[in-house]
Amino acid sequence: MIVVGCSKGVHVAPRIAKLARKEYSELLVKKFPDGETDLRFTCDVRKKVVVLVQSFFGDINDALMEVFLAAYTAKDLGAKRVVLMAPYFPYFRQDTRFHPGECVSLPILGKFVDACLSEIYVMDPHLHREKNLKHVFRVRGHKLTANELVRDYIKKHIKNPIIIGPDWESYKWARATAEMIGCESAILKKTRFSSRHVEVALDHDVDLSKHNVVIVDDIISTGHTLLETIKLLRKDLGAKKITCIGIHGVFAENALAKLKKVKVSVITTNTIPNASAEIDVAKEFAERIK
Ligand code: R5P
Repeated sequence: MIVVGCSKGVHVAPRIAKLARKEYSELLVKKFPDGETDLRFTCDVRKKVVVLVQSFFGDINDALMEVFLAAYTAKDLGAKRVVLMAPYFPYFRQDTRFHPGECVSLPILGKFVDACLSEIYVMDPHLHREKNLKHVFRVRGHKLTANELVRDYIKKHIKNPIIIGPDWESYKWARATAEMIGCESAILKKTRFSSRHVEVALDHDVDLSKHNVVIVDDIISTGHTLLETIKLLRKDLGAKKITCIGIHGVFAENALAKLKKVKVSVITTNTIPNASAEIDVAKEFAERIK
């Protein structure tokens, strides 16, 4: 077996390989002058299981293309099987047609994955209307979660926490983490009007004034979900110190700066590298390899 760091996976891939005690190599990725992807394996992949580590941020579509090209190339060079380990896998929220004529991206992406890869590991996929990875990929899909890492972070750094989930889907992260810690939690109701316009509400009273409030969600993208939640928690529920924990810090459109401006602490895992990535997920992937 060999672990191969793709261009958006190199922040975590060497550590995954080290912890799993496997050989490591970096994929050489360049661009042709016209913008096409030019990639090369610098290791021998013949007869090996090749584990590609790639996350998806920034130029997401380039990162996808890289995986598809790399997977076919590895097979072409004689690899036994090609597996993708994706700390963050994109398009999970595009699982339905929200507007007439709109592309439903997730199942299409699923077909590409099936065509190229033998197996896929995804950390905390945003499974909402699609309940299971089996509904998305025909190849074996494995769901990993950073919940235990988040639990450990909260236990170590935050005294007397109460955990808030900003929408009902967040119970898989917020409530699950609260249950592991044994602390109180509350889940808000969110209405999404557009990518940048959401409203949140809570249908019962909780007194947050005596707790350190921790908002836990899977994805922080534009940050509007958190900004609205912070407003509500401060204005109506007496929240004072607030920490926001996201598994995937996408931070589109300067979201991190917007959150810092409202004076909250922001912590994420390193599924996507960013200035708030304090929780390392490498161990979770390495354990699966072992
Ligand atoms: C959606 O349901 C997710 O769990 C997140 O709440 C959402 O993706 C966050 O997006 P944004 O930061 O753009 O509000």
